[in-house]
Amino acid sequence: MKIKNICCIGAGYVGGPTMAVIAQKCPEINVTVVDINEKRIAAWNDKDVENIPIYEPGLSKIVAEARGRNLFFSTDIDSAIDKADMIFISVNTPTKTYGIGKGMAADLKYIELCARQIARVSKSDKIVVEKSTLPVRTAEALKNILDNTGNGVNYQILSNPEFLAEGTAVDDLLSPDRVLIGGDIDTKKGKEAVQALVDVYTHWVPNERILTTNVWSSELSKLTANAFLAQRVSSINAMSELCEKTGADVNEVARAVGMDSRIGPKFLKSSVGFGGSCFQKDILNLVYIAKSFGLYEVADYWEQVIIMNDHQKRRFAANIVKTLFNTVSGKKIAFLGWAFKKDTNDTRESASIYVADYLLNEQAEIVIYDPKVKEEQIYADLDYLNSRTEEENRKRVSVVKDPYEAGKEAHAIAVLTEWDEFRTLDWKKLYEDMLKPAFLFDGRRLLDRKTKEDIGFDFYAIGS
Ligand code: NAD
Ligand code: UGA
Repeated sequence: MKIKNICCIGAGYVGGPTMAVIAQKCPEINVTVVDINEKRIAAWNDKDVENIPIYEPGLSKIVAEARGRNLFFSTDIDSAIDKADMIFISVNTPTKTYGIGKGMAADLKYIELCARQIARVSKSDKIVVEKSTLPVRTAEALKNILDNTGNGVNYQILSNPEFLAEGTAVDDLLSPDRVLIGGDIDTKKGKEAVQALVDVYTHWVPNERILTTNVWSSELSKLTANAFLAQRVSSINAMSELCEKTGADVNEVARAVGMDSRIGPKFLKSSVGFGGSCFQKDILNLVYIAKSFGLYEVADYWEQVIIMNDHQKRRFAANIVKTLFNTVSGKKIAFLGWAFKKDTNDTRESASIYVADYLLNEQAEIVIYDPKVKEEQIYADLDYLNSRTEEENRKRVSVVKDPYEAGKEAHAIAVLTEWDEFRTLDWKKLYEDMLKPAFLFDGRRLLDRKTKEDIGFDFYAIGS
C-alpha cells in the first residue's frame, strides 16, 4: 500500500518539524499539517519563512523548500482528514490539572477529540498514527472510539513515538538513532499498515534503524526512554551535591564514569535541574500508570527522579540566599538565561521559573536576560504559578535586552541556561558594575572558575 496523502493533526514542536522533514524527503506524498490554533497556522504560512512559529536551527530552510509544493498548513481539519490515507496525531498531552489523576496522569482530552473528529469525517479506510507521547494502551481507547463512532470504515492504529530533542530537532529527524513503529503485527492488515509507514521512513532512514514492535511495547518505550534520560540527569545531580560537600568535582566524576563504555558520556551534565515540556510530564504519567496497576515500588522508584530534580532547583536557590548572608530581601539578582536549554525559545518547565519563584518569595528583585525568550513569555510563566499578583511580578521582575544592564548594581548573577554567548561576555566589565562582594552562581557549569575568581567574583558552581 502506497501512501499518497498524509494529514498531521497538531502543528507544534513535534508536528511542524516532523512533517516538514517527511515532505522534504518524500516529494510524491502530499503532507497537510492542521491545527485549531489559527495564529499558529498563519505563522507557519507567513511569507517570510523566518517567522514560522518554532525556532529550530535548519528548520526554516526545509519549510521554504517544501511549503506550497507538497507541504501545506491549514485550519481546515475535516478536509485534510477526508483526503488522507494516513493521519498522524501530534497534539499536546499535558499533565491533568483537574479531577482524578490531577498533577500526575496525562490529559487525553485532545487525543480523544481528534479520534472523534476522525471517526466523524472519514469515508475511507485510514491508518491512524500516534505521534504524541501517550500512556501505554491508549491505542486501545482510540480504536474503540474509531470503531464505535465511525462510518464503518477500517482503521489501523500505529504507535510511532518521536524522540527528537528541541534545539537539535532537524538533525535528530534527518538522522535518528532509530525510528520506532508499533502495530498489530499479528494480522495481515496490521502488517500492511506498519509496512506503509516503514516505506515512508525508508526514503531517508536506513532499514536497520527502523524498529517494529507490538503497539504496547512502542507506547511504553517512549515513556521509558524519557524516564531513563531524566534519571541520568537526576543521578548526576544527586552526585553534584555530594561533590560540593567532599571536594570532588562533578565534571571530573562524570568524565571518569562516562568513559566506561557500558555507561557512556552523554546526558551526564550536572545542572540546576532538567526542564522542558516532557521529562516531568512523562515520568509523572509513568508513576501514575504504575500506581494504577498497584505497582507502588515501581512508582516510587521513578518518582524519586522528580523529587531529586525539584530538590536540585530548590537547593540552587537556597544556596543563593544562604551565601548572600541569609537574606536577599530587596537585593537585585541578575538571571542569565530563562529557556529550559540553549538554542530554543521554549520555556516550559524551565528550572529558572522555579528558582525565580523561590527568590521572589524571599523578596528579591530579579532582572532577566535571555537571548531568545520574549518578555511576555517570562511574565506569563511567573503568573501561571499563581504565587503572587500579576502586578507584583511586574514590580519585582524586569526583563532586559542586554546582559550588562542585567548585571548593573546587582548583588549576584546566576547563570540558568547554557547559552554559548554567556561564556564570552566581558566578565570584568560585569564585575566592575556590580555591588561588592560580587557573587556569581553557575547553574550550568558553563564558566571557568579560575578566571572568574581572578577577576574578583565570589564564585559558586553546581557540583564543585
Ligand atoms: P505543542 O503544544 O507544541 O503542539 C500541539 C498542537 O496541537 C498545538 O498547536 C494545539 O493547538 C494542537 N491541537 C490540540 N488539540 C487539537 C485538536 N483537537 N485539533 C487540532 N489541533 C489541536 O506540543 P508538542 O511539543 O508538539 O508536543 C506534542 C506531543 O509530542 C506531546 O505528546 C509531547 O509529549 C510529544 N513530544 C514532544 C517533543 C518536544 O520536543 N516538544 C518531543 C517528543 C514528543
Ligand atoms: C527530551 C529528550 O531528549 C527527547 O529524546 C524527547 O523526544 C523529548 O524530551 C520529548 O519527549 O519531549 P528535550 O526535552 O527537548 O528532549 O531536551 P533535552 O536535551 O533532553 O534536555 C532536557 C532537559 O535536561 C534540559 O533542561 C537540559 O538542560 C537538561 N539536561 C540534559 C541536563 O541538565 N543535563 C544533561 O546532561 C542533559
